[in-house]
Amino acid sequence: MNDDQKDVDKVSGVETTGHEWDGIKELNNPMPRWWLWVFYITIIWSIGYWIVYPAWPVISGATKGSIGWTQYKKLADDQAEIIARQTIYMDKFSRASFQEIMHDNELYAFAMAGGQAAFKENCATCHGSGGAGNKGYPNLNDDDWLWGGTLEDIHFTIKHGIRSIDDDTRLSEMLAFGKDNLLKPEDINAVTDYVLTLSGKEQKPTYERGKTVFQENCASCHGLEGKGLREVGAPNLADAIWLYSGDRKTIYETVFYGRKSVMPAWKDRLDENTIRALTIYLHELGGGEPDKPPLQQEPVNADGTGQ
Ligand code: HEC
Ligand code: HEC
Repeated sequence: MNDDQKDVDKVSGVETTGHEWDGIKELNNPMPRWWLWVFYITIIWSIGYWIVYPAWPVISGATKGSIGWTQYKKLADDQAEIIARQTIYMDKFSRASFQEIMHDNELYAFAMAGGQAAFKENCATCHGSGGAGNKGYPNLNDDDWLWGGTLEDIHFTIKHGIRSIDDDTRLSEMLAFGKDNLLKPEDINAVTDYVLTLSGKEQKPTYERGKTVFQENCASCHGLEGKGLREVGAPNLADAIWLYSGDRKTIYETVFYGRKSVMPAWKDRLDENTIRALTIYLHELGGGEPDKPPLQQEPVNADGTGQ
């Protein structure tokens, strides 16, 4: 389009740019002044930015910028800040007793988070990611404990292990009554059926024989009623919760071949703070015993109903 043929919009009296779409023409208004100013300011700002921060790619990397800012330095600063914050907690945490931690919301949250992370990393392979266990690996979610569920019990178990190579390991053994010829095959069959009755299975004709065998050979560890004994980590056989399995074949195998599952000692692999965090995490995960902290109780309303 040439200059002397300028197309002027009749309604607004403004010249058009000459662009036209389906009869709609674009007015050639000037840019709003405020917009132009913002535009100029961003240009000035970007020049300042080039000078202050690393900006232009050059063969040796990039211009350095006048204040020496780098992403590495920023990361290092951020990390130092995180570590500084953690150290404050760690110091407090390592000096606090279990009771103090349980009654301090911050330390408690710190222990739970640390314990959960350490559990996933070190324990989940055997105990399952939520601690629900597997055949031969106890469920740590429930209130059924082989060796005890107080904070002190759990702490000791984690530190020293069970049948581990640690000098202070928890130690006991389910004897191999068949393999080592401690019992005759009929007695093993009878006692196996008797064990099943403890958790409600029907009585077989050999019941009385099985009961006698049990009282003479098993009660010293599992208790007269088969309720287990924590001093020797002998499981409760009367609660229908099984470390191995509750079917007849597995129980027979246990009595015939014995069992000695191993839980490693962690005191040389994990630091004391991690072990304490794990202790609290497990105590809270399952039915931790006695020292339940008040903050685990249901909130109680003014009327005391807890509703
Ligand atoms: C190599 C497998 C294995 C790993 C890894 C393992 N455990 Fe165990 N854990 C066991 C076995 C097996 C038992 C049961 C031992 C027994 O029958 O007395 C056990 C028992 C326990 C108990 C005692 C439960 C009770 O009822 O008294 C606790 C607590 C425990 N483990 C915690 C942990 C923690 C915490 C970790 C990680 C730091 C961990 N375990 C890692 C195999 C493992
Ligand atoms: C010296 C102590 C001791 C004696 C005696 C003993 N047990 Fe055990 N028993 C244990 C221990 C410890 C375990 C757990 C083993 C493990 O975790 O590896 C166990 C485990 C078992 C289990 C597996 C329980 C489960 O939850 O899966 C059965 C079943 C069992 N015993 C039956 C018997 C019977 C029947 C007798 C007698 C004929 C007997 N025990 C005698 C210590 C003993």
